[in-house]
Amino acid sequence: MTLILLGAPGAGKGTQAEVISDRYNIPTISTGNIIRAALKNGTEMGLKAKAYIEKGELIHDDVVIGIIKERLAESDCDGGFILDGFPRTIPQAKALDDMGIAIDAALSIEVSDSEIVKRMSGRRVCEKCGASYHMDHRKPAVEGVCDVCKGKLVIRKDDEPETVLNRLKIYHESTEPLKDYYKAQDKLLTVEGQDDVKDTTALVLKALSEI
Ligand code: AP5
Repeated sequence: MTLILLGAPGAGKGTQAEVISDRYNIPTISTGNIIRAALKNGTEMGLKAKAYIEKGELIHDDVVIGIIKERLAESDCDGGFILDGFPRTIPQAKALDDMGIAIDAALSIEVSDSEIVKRMSGRRVCEKCGASYHMDHRKPAVEGVCDVCKGKLVIRKDDEPETVLNRLKIYHESTEPLKDYYKAQDKLLTVEGQDDVKDTTALVLKALSEI
């Protein structure tokens, strides 16, 4: 299966990608995670991306397209993959088409802006390994401490309320038009992501089983 996950920041793409990845035994390629790892490792790309990512702005198309080209050439992608966070603009979608990648579906998880703002305030991430938690429904065993590596849990810089509003604005301007792009290719699936994680997962797996 070759799948694109669409949806606003915080719609639950990463959360659902974990389940789909396990179910279909395919890797998830998250451009956000790749860029955050580069930032943490202090690479040239990471340093350039820092200001953008912290303000919730998009990194230049050419940079992200280069990252994806390199990553998709790795052998674990041969049997399919999930793209989480790419494409995010029409030029990125066109670049993917130009790479000759045939996708099975673009699945959009639909969540209202007000729910997103509420959700993001509860997210905590491990500053060491990046594992993600939520104060309401995915709590760590010990408050403030990562279950996986015992690292410290922090609020992602771009989850501050003002930055979330900017990310939502950019999503509506630049990324949401991709729904029409994939609809025109007869590839668009939409699921309601407003309910809790378990209900959303059931809808996602049902939609994918019908492809
Ligand atoms: P990225 O990391 O891709 O940010 P994003 O899309 O904003 O992703 P999020 O992780 O915030 O949202 P998600 O939908 O995965 O939600 P999650 O499952 O984590 O990108 C970050 C930055 O990198 C961008 O701003 C940009 O600067 C740059 N970048 C990345 N890709 C780029 C590209 N292609 N082009 C240019 N720049 C790019 O869930 C969020 C929280 O909600 C979690 O705490 C989760 O537990 C909780 N949650 C999930 N589902 C539910 C539910 N159903 N009910 C209640 N809570 C839920």
